[in-house]
Amino acid sequence: MQIDVFTLFPEAFAWFERQRHVANALAAGSSLEYVNYRDHTPLTGGQVDDSPFGGGAGMVLRVDVVEAAMRARYGEDPVSLRDSRRVIALTPGGRVLDDRLVDELAAEPALTLLSGRYEGFDERVLQNFATDRISIGRYVLAGGELAAMVVCDAVFRKLPGALGDEESAVEESFSAALDGAPEYPHYTRPAEYRGWSVPEVLLSGHHARIREWRLEQSRARATEPLP
Ligand code: 6GU
Repeated sequence: MQIDVFTLFPEAFAWFERQRHVANALAAGSSLEYVNYRDHTPLTGGQVDDSPFGGGAGMVLRVDVVEAAMRARYGEDPVSLRDSRRVIALTPGGRVLDDRLVDELAAEPALTLLSGRYEGFDERVLQNFATDRISIGRYVLAGGELAAMVVCDAVFRKLPGALGDEESAVEESFSAALDGAPEYPHYTRPAEYRGWSVPEVLLSGHHARIREWRLEQSRARATEPLP
């Protein structure tokens, strides 16, 4: 998986890259690279944004600046780049990220993530340069960087070898293996703590019964209201 993140704040990703599953994915041949819009702006003084036509608060990332950064990276018109790779604009109003979308993205050979700052992108970026618009939830963040890290985190941990145990991304919360239900509860030692005991079945060593109990718990959680 080759991921390019376009951002004004590449340094924000330093901590993220040190996470074990990300480091594992990178060591196994994936890449995560950054393009700083500011390094490629055709405007003077490192300008990348501008005030919105029609007035209003905040600043908008300019379409010419985004195009220049994308051309510098790919050597082609971003309009046609969409035919060869998924270009994802991170924007609060986009398709909300869930396990199904993460699986879909993890199956791609390469992704481009466009982070916006300020009030977001000039609409022509979304219309003409992006194949997808993705949101990580119905609330507004000050910029797309955290959302880009969320997408990368969720995608990288799906790749073979990213997690220590090959199985661990298969049967987990919201996965197809659990019919999209939340995961079953986990327990570890001590078996008894302040009178709170671990369900007997988990201590039984009876694998078929344990499996049945877990699926039952997962199904029950899918229909229960959240605490
Ligand atoms: Cl992708 N960007 C911003 N700025 N805020 C968000 C978001 C993205 N997803 C949820 N909130």
